Amino acid sequence: MMRRTVFAGVGHYLPERVITNKYLEKLMDTSDEWIQERTGIKERRWVEEGETVSGLAFKASQTALERAGMKPSDIDLIIFASMFSDYVFPGGGCFLQEKLEIPGIPALDIRNQCTGFVYGLAVADQFIRSGMYNTILLVGAEIQSTGLDVTTRGRDMAVLFGDGAGAAVLTGVETEDRGVITSKLHADGVYAKKLWGEWPSIIHHPRVTSEMLETDRIYPKMEGRYVFKHAVTRFPEVIQEVLDEAGISLDQVDLVIPHQANLRITEAVAQRLGIGMDKMWSNIDKYGNTTAATIPICLSEAFETGKLKEGSLLALASFGSGFTWAASLVKW
Ligand SMILES: CC(C)(COP(=O)(O)OP(=O)(O)OC[C@H]1O[C@@H](n2cnc3c(N)ncnc32)[C@H](O)[C@@H]1OP(=O)(O)O)[C@@H](O)C(=O)NCCC(=O)NCCS
Repeated sequence: MMRRTVFAGVGHYLPERVITNKYLEKLMDTSDEWIQERTGIKERRWVEEGETVSGLAFKASQTALERAGMKPSDIDLIIFASMFSDYVFPGGGCFLQEKLEIPGIPALDIRNQCTGFVYGLAVADQFIRSGMYNTILLVGAEIQSTGLDVTTRGRDMAVLFGDGAGAAVLTGVETEDRGVITSKLHADGVYAKKLWGEWPSIIHHPRVTSEMLETDRIYPKMEGRYVFKHAVTRFPEVIQEVLDEAGISLDQVDLVIPHQANLRITEAVAQRLGIGMDKMWSNIDKYGNTTAATIPICLSEAFETGKLKEGSLLALASFGSGFTWAASLVKW
């Protein structure tokens, strides 16, 4: 028997404020038709003033713990994947830990943008396999909305992103038929500035000036077509890589859960892999791109709809800023 990383429970939480494409039409020169046609997004959730990344994460974690039949005190380690924390520092893991009331438990922050959850899963899997920690709370949570340029100038980015959180309780089980089979992680910093946030940056003296607020360099920037082209190549590549490593064929996979960046990317990936869209999980119409929160939100929804049954074979795959990309094969 091997010690494997099994998903004991998954949960998600989305802010209640629904932002429709029609609403965005009032803020910028865009249209419901353009957004749906180019991205597949119909609406997304944005937080209200006062909501925090760790607060969203806490609610998702409560559901995941409940479904796992566990209490916060059962957790040995928190891994928190997010581009941002509630504040500049410390990372979100400590804020979440405080809310869970488990002082002393280690909290590790992972900052790998849209790929954060899959990177976090690979890290958690190593800790569990080695026996260093047995029960890990892995969270992906993100608030993007407060940093977007919601004018016509920033419309290419602003229409894409949403806020939310997803969580998984991972635990070590002596088994050969369940759990994380393998993961593959990649990055290529040559492309870091193709999708990035520049200001306020650490390299300036001082870091923040009032003049900065007047320029668009405080907003995230993306070369959309460039990102699109790389994503549609990297997703199938890394999915094939985990399949090859595990000696499993794509026919055996029940569900592919790709990071939700654009419905057109998901469709192109399905086409390149030669599988139907019925095998690809998609919820981008409701939530847009929620960065590190996307994959655990998808997992939790797939669980709720009964799509994930014991023994289901899943391929999780992600691509994002960095560029970073990664995939995991999981037997539910
Ligand atoms: C952003 C994205 C949807 C744009 O779609 P596209 O078909 O590539 O569109 P383009 O960037 O070529 O822009 C076409 C036109 O639409 C305009 N446009 C951009 N955003 C718009 C919006 N929200 N509403 C209306 N028009 C918009 C552009 O200004 C451009 O106008 P022009 O032709 O007059 O210059 C697409 O490139 C994409 O999804 N890229 C990947 C993004 C991604 O996945 N990011 C996260 C990775 S984790």
